[in-house]
Order: sequence, then C-alpha cells, then structure tokens
Amino acid sequence: MSHRFDVVIVGAGAAGLFCAGVAGQLGLKVLVIDHGEKVAEKVRISGGGRANFTNREAAPANFLGDNPNFCRSALSRYGPKDFVALVQRHGIPFHEKHKGQLFCDRSAEDLIAMLLAECAAGGVERWQPCAIKGVSFSAASADGSGTGSYEIESDRGTVSTPRLVVATGGLSIPKIGATDFGYRLARQFGLRLVPTRPALVPLTFDGAHWAPYAQLAGLALPVWIETGAKKARMGFAEDLLFTHRGLSGPAVLQISSYWAEGTPIRLNLAPDTDLPQALARAKATSRKLIANELAQLVPARLADAWVQQDTGWQRPVAEASDKALNLLAERLARWEITPMGTEGYRKAEVTAGGVDTRDLSSQTMESKQPGLYFIGEVVDVTGWLGGYNFQWAWASAFACAQAM
Ligand code: FDA
Repeated sequence: MSHRFDVVIVGAGAAGLFCAGVAGQLGLKVLVIDHGEKVAEKVRISGGGRANFTNREAAPANFLGDNPNFCRSALSRYGPKDFVALVQRHGIPFHEKHKGQLFCDRSAEDLIAMLLAECAAGGVERWQPCAIKGVSFSAASADGSGTGSYEIESDRGTVSTPRLVVATGGLSIPKIGATDFGYRLARQFGLRLVPTRPALVPLTFDGAHWAPYAQLAGLALPVWIETGAKKARMGFAEDLLFTHRGLSGPAVLQISSYWAEGTPIRLNLAPDTDLPQALARAKATSRKLIANELAQLVPARLADAWVQQDTGWQRPVAEASDKALNLLAERLARWEITPMGTEGYRKAEVTAGGVDTRDLSSQTMESKQPGLYFIGEVVDVTGWLGGYNFQWAWASAFACAQAM
C-alpha cells in the first residue's frame, strides 16, 4: 500500500520532531519515520538527563564548519529567545547554570513531552520503529504538479512525498541509534560531504606517556586550554578532568572540536595565579617542601604528582634554585602535550563535518537536489559545548519548516 504525505521527515530526534511540529502546524501533512523504538534518545540523555536545551548567548561564533557563516541566517530567524518562549509556554521550569547554558529543572523528559505535544498539535503522524529500505526520486510527480516525488520504501510500506527532510543526526553514540543514513542519502543524490570526526570528545594519550598522570584520574580543576598555531589559535577557560586514559571535562570537550591529529594542546593549570611570583615569595619566606607550597596554589594531588617529574622539585622551596622554580611554573602554566587520539564516536557528544553546506541553502536547508532538506547535526555545522547544538537543531528545523 502506498501512502502520500506533504513532508516526510527521517529522524525523530531534536531537529526532526521540532521541524515536524512547526510544519504540521503550518498545515502540512507530515510523517516522521525513525528506526528506533523511542523518540529523541539523545535529548533524553543530554545534559546529564536535564537537557542543556539552548544557550542564551548562542551566536555564529560558537559554531564550526567549513563555512562558519552558514548558520547565521537560521540562528537570526530562530534564536535562543524563541525557543525559551516555547519552553515557557509549555510551563517547563528551567534554570541557567553556567555561561548562558539553560537546563530543565526536572528532566529532559519535559522537553520530549513538549516536542511531542507540538507534533500532536500539528497532526503529525509517526512511524516507529520503522526501517527505511531505500529512497528514489522521480522528477515528474505522479499527480502532475511537476515538483518531483520521493518514494521511500520502508518496512511499513511505500511512502511518496514531494519533500524529504533528513534529520538523522551524526555518528556519535551508535548504541542509541546513530547511523550514517543521512550521509549515504546525501551521496546518493550527488551532494558533497565534509569528512566526519568525533567532536566534543575526551582526548586519549599514549599509555607510557600518560603513566605519570594516570594517578590524577578523577581530579578536576579550572584551566585555560588552547590548540592551533598562532593565526588559528582557539582557547577556552573551562574545567579540566583527568581520567585513566587521558583528559576530559568541558575544557577538553571544547578544544577537541578544534584539535587536529598529531598537534599538541597547551594548558595553563593555574590560570588565575602568577606562579613565578608566588613560588619566589614562598622561597623567601617558607621552609616547607615545594610540593606543600605548590598545594596552596593548585590542587594538592596535582602538586604531589607534578613534583615527581623532576628531582629538582623534590626539596624544600628555600633550597630550590630560581631556575628549577621558574621551570616548575613554566611547566604548569604551559603544559604542552600531544594527544594520541580521541575516545571516538562511542563517547563523542557530536559529529563534526557532515553534509557540505555548499550544497545547501542557508535560508531553507534545501539541498541542490530539489525537495531534499538536511537539518540538525547531519549538516556540517557543529556547536560548542553548552546548548549550542540543540539551538542549531531548533534553528535549522524552523528554517526548513517555514520554507516548505
Ligand atoms: P538526533 O541524534 O537527536 O536524532 C537523530 C534521529 O535519527 C534519532 O532519533 C535516530 O534514531 C534517527 N535515525 C538515525 N539513523 C536512522 C535511520 N537510518 N533510519 C531512521 N531513523 C534514523 N547538545 C546540546 O545542545 N546540549 C546538551 O546538553 C547535549 N548533551 C548531549 C549529551 C550526549 C551524551 C550526547 C551524545 C549529545 C549531546 N548533545 C547536546 C548533542 C545533541 O544531542 C545533538 O546535537 C542533537 O540531538 C542533534 O539533533 P538531531 O535531531 O540532528 O539528531
């Protein structure tokens, strides 16, 4: 049996559901297809279960991609304020945590219920779980409208539609349903892809090189982190977390999106302290070990582990040479280390790269292939950590729904 819809959206995640609700309420007959049992699994686990659903400060500068300006139009037409207004209309309590990040007070389930209520208000139909076996396109549509038609073969039957929206997200966390469907479909229709890579992801280090730091697993501290050569240098002031295999925490997740394989990252482990001055003062006034003095300036575990790296640092501060103390300060303030890799898609919050924005309209998200749209994470637009990726999902979905 063949079904016909004005719009078929593949992917019942953040972008797909939001687009469906808006398009449905604009009067279009919308079908959402997802191969998963449940909707919006990533929304459910996001923000530690409380969904950091937007960022008050979201602006194009918080996004990466081959064309950093691509997100500008959609973000200007549907910004954080618009989404906050929707959340408020649904009576969902939320709070600001850190640097403009907005989280649900109770649970991400509130947000999912809101997306589903918006879909219901638009009369959206949903097929789940439903696997798609293939998609084809015929330029002359059967109803003679001349707009062309997509035939989607699924395990619930064949669907035809003049507009197909791909909202299948990125490759991260395959165990909750991530697939490369969107990229394959883009390729099928001759669209270009920017190579994908895990982003917002912990960094790992070679076992032998990491051995001295493995004892610090679990330690968190505020740092300045940066990567890249002078012109393209990118840096963040955020919290760092030591793990058994490497580094994580917001600082490292942020920098991971900008890190290029084989290049170092640089950290200031005491960004708010003038270490050379503090150590010189200690040398003049204290009889304690360097480790004990250092423990006043950085976390004690870090101080203990750090002084083990050099015998010149394992003595009373008063007996240390100026050179040794300056080197200690320098090593803490400019710790340069080259990651071996990342924890991969298994742990990445997002996928950088994706459908090349050169083949998409920034106004409508329609691709060069008429009637084929891409929204959300499948597009080569990647946000910083902090609610930006959801804001892109909402904004790109809104631009697409308005244009159809
Ligand atoms: P999304 O991944 O949400 O949805 C894609 C949908 O497509 C899924 O339902 C999937 O089942 C479906 N699908 C895939 N392949 C298919 C196929 N072949 N056939 C049919 N359906 C298919 N962002 C943020 O802004 N704030 C936050 O707090 C967090 N927190 C966070 C935590 C964790 C652990 C992760 C992994 C990610 C985040 N993110 C985040 C990122 C955010 O979740 C992500 O950017 C958005 O969910 C992307 O929305 P999309 O709708 O594009 O994809």
